[in-house]
Amino acid sequence: MTSSNIEFIYQNKIFKIKKPDPNETLLNYIRTKLKKIGTKEGCAEGGCGACTVVLGQLKNNEINYQAINSCITLLPTLQGKQLILVEDLISKDGSLHPVQQAMVNYHGSQCGFCTPGFIMSLFLMFKKNSKFKDEEIKDSISGNLCRCTGYQPIIKAAKSLKNKNKIDHFTRNKKNTINLLKKISNKSIVIYNRGKKYFAPKYVQELKKILKNNIEADFLSGGTDLSLSVTKERKEINSIIYMNSISELNFIKNNNKYIEIGASTPLIELESYIEKYYPDFTKILKRYGSPQIRNVATVAGNIATASPIGDCLPLLISLNAQVVLQDLKKTKILFLDKFFISYRKTKLKKGQFIRSIRIPLFEDNTFKAYKVSKRFDDDISSVCAAFNLEIVKNKIQNVRIAYGGMAAIPKRAIYCEKILSNSLVTDEIIDKAKKALEKDFKPISDMRASALYRMEVAKNLLEKFYAEIKQKKLIGVYF
Ligand SMILES: Cc1cc2nc3c(=O)[nH]c(=O)nc-3n(C[C@H](O)[C@H](O)[C@H](O)COP(=O)(O)OP(=O)(O)OC[C@H]3O[C@@H](n4cnc5c(N)ncnc54)[C@H](O)[C@@H]3O)c2cc1C
Ligand code: FES
Ligand code: FES
Repeated sequence: MTSSNIEFIYQNKIFKIKKPDPNETLLNYIRTKLKKIGTKEGCAEGGCGACTVVLGQLKNNEINYQAINSCITLLPTLQGKQLILVEDLISKDGSLHPVQQAMVNYHGSQCGFCTPGFIMSLFLMFKKNSKFKDEEIKDSISGNLCRCTGYQPIIKAAKSLKNKNKIDHFTRNKKNTINLLKKISNKSIVIYNRGKKYFAPKYVQELKKILKNNIEADFLSGGTDLSLSVTKERKEINSIIYMNSISELNFIKNNNKYIEIGASTPLIELESYIEKYYPDFTKILKRYGSPQIRNVATVAGNIATASPIGDCLPLLISLNAQVVLQDLKKTKILFLDKFFISYRKTKLKKGQFIRSIRIPLFEDNTFKAYKVSKRFDDDISSVCAAFNLEIVKNKIQNVRIAYGGMAAIPKRAIYCEKILSNSLVTDEIIDKAKKALEKDFKPISDMRASALYRMEVAKNLLEKFYAEIKQKKLIGVYF
C-alpha cells in the first residue's frame, strides 16, 4: 500500500497531512500548523534540546517511546508514529503530569525556554521504567542545555520521581493508542510536492525500484547530519529516500564471528547490545551527541558522512569492521579502512547504499577507546582513538590502532603499529610508538583544537592505554 499523505496519532486521533513538504521540519509544523508553541526552537541543529518531543512507535505490539529533536526531524518521517508534546502531559482534568509536578515542587523550571525540553526528556525517562539512578538521570538530560541556574533543581525533581505511581494517562490509554498505530503504520510513502520528492519504502526490494529511477536521491536515516543542510545551510533537498522506514534493515545479528548491524538500526540499540563484547564502544556511544541524537542516528549515516571526527569510525577501523554495500544488482563487502578516500569522500557510488556493518568478534584481544572533546557530553571529538591488540607471552600481536581528528579521514596509525607489533611492552617501546605518531599524522588546527594539541593528545591517549593495560596486569613480569 502506497500513499502520498502521511498519518500520525496526536491526542488520541489520527491526523492526516496531505503531501507534506519533504523539507519542512517537525518543529515548524508543531509551532506554525498545530499552533502548539510549548516546544521551543533554540539552536535548530540538534544541540540544545529545547525542541525535544516524544514519539511513540509500535514495536512487538508495544509502544516504544523515544525523545527526539524536532528541529532536525523532517515532517514526513512522522508517518505511522504517535506525537507527544509538552502540552499533552497535562491530564484532561487539568492536573499536571508527575514529571511536571516534580519540576514545580523542586523549582526546576527556570528560564522557561529550556524547561519544555527538560520535561520531555524526563517524561521519556519516566515512561521507560527507569530505576532513577544518578547515571540514568544525568544521561537522560545530557541533550538538554541549561545556561542559567544549573541542573541541580532539575536533578532533584528527577530523583523525586523514583517512587511515584508510573500509571499516567498515556498508560491508561495504551490499548487505544496501539489500535490507532496499527491502523496507520503499514504503508509506504511517495510524495511529490512542488518539485521535491520523498520516498519511505517498507522493504529493500521496494527501495531498489525507487533507486532505479532516482539515482541522485539522498538517503535519509536518522537525519542528524543530512537535515542540518536544510536547517543550517538553508539548502533544499530535492529527492529523499528515507531508510529508517525499512524494518528489514533494523537488526543486530551475531554469528559468533561478527556482529552485524543493519543500516537503519539506531545507535541507542547498538549502545546496549555491544557493551558485553566491547564495553569501550558503549562508553564512547554514551558520549555520542545526546539521547535525542542516538535514538535516531545510525552507524551507516556516520560512515557515509565520512567526517574525520565521526566517533564510530576509528573504533570500527581498529576492530577491522566491514561495510556491506548494495546496489540494484549486487552486494559488495569492503574493509572500512579502505573505504575512506579523502576528506568526506568514500568509495560509495551513486545508486549504492550501505546495507549493514560487520564488526568482528576477537577472542583474546584488548579493545579500548577514548574520546577527547571540549565538553564531556553532547559534543563532537577533537581527537578520538581506538586500540585493539593481543598480548601473547608479553608481546604485542595483531595490533590495530586508529585515530579520528588527526587527518582528513579517520585513519590507522601504521607506523605506530609497526613499532608495537611483536614487541615486548616496555616504556621505551611506548615512547618510540608515541614518536611514530608524528610520522603517521599531520593534524590541522581548527576551532576544536590546534595541531599541536591534537598531536599531544594522541600521544597521551596511547600512554593512557598503556597505563591501563599495565594496571589490568595484561602484561606480565615486566612491570
Ligand atoms: C547535535 C549533534 C551532535 C552530534 N554528535 C556527534 C558525536 O558525538 N559523534 C559523531 O560521530 N557524530 C555526531 N553527530 C553527527 C551525526 O549524528 C552522526 O554522523 C550520525 O551517525 C549520522 O547518522 P544519521 O543516521 O543521522 O545520518 P543521516 O543524517 O540520515 O545521513 C548522513 C549521511 O549519510 C547518508 N546515508 C545515510 N544512511 C545511508 C545508507 N544506509 N547508505 C548510504 N548512505 C547513507 C546520507 O545520505 C547523508 O549523506 C552529531 C550531530 C548532531 C546534530
Ligand atoms: S532547537 Fe536546539 S536541539 Fe532543536
Ligand atoms: S532553564 Fe533555560 S537556561 Fe536554564
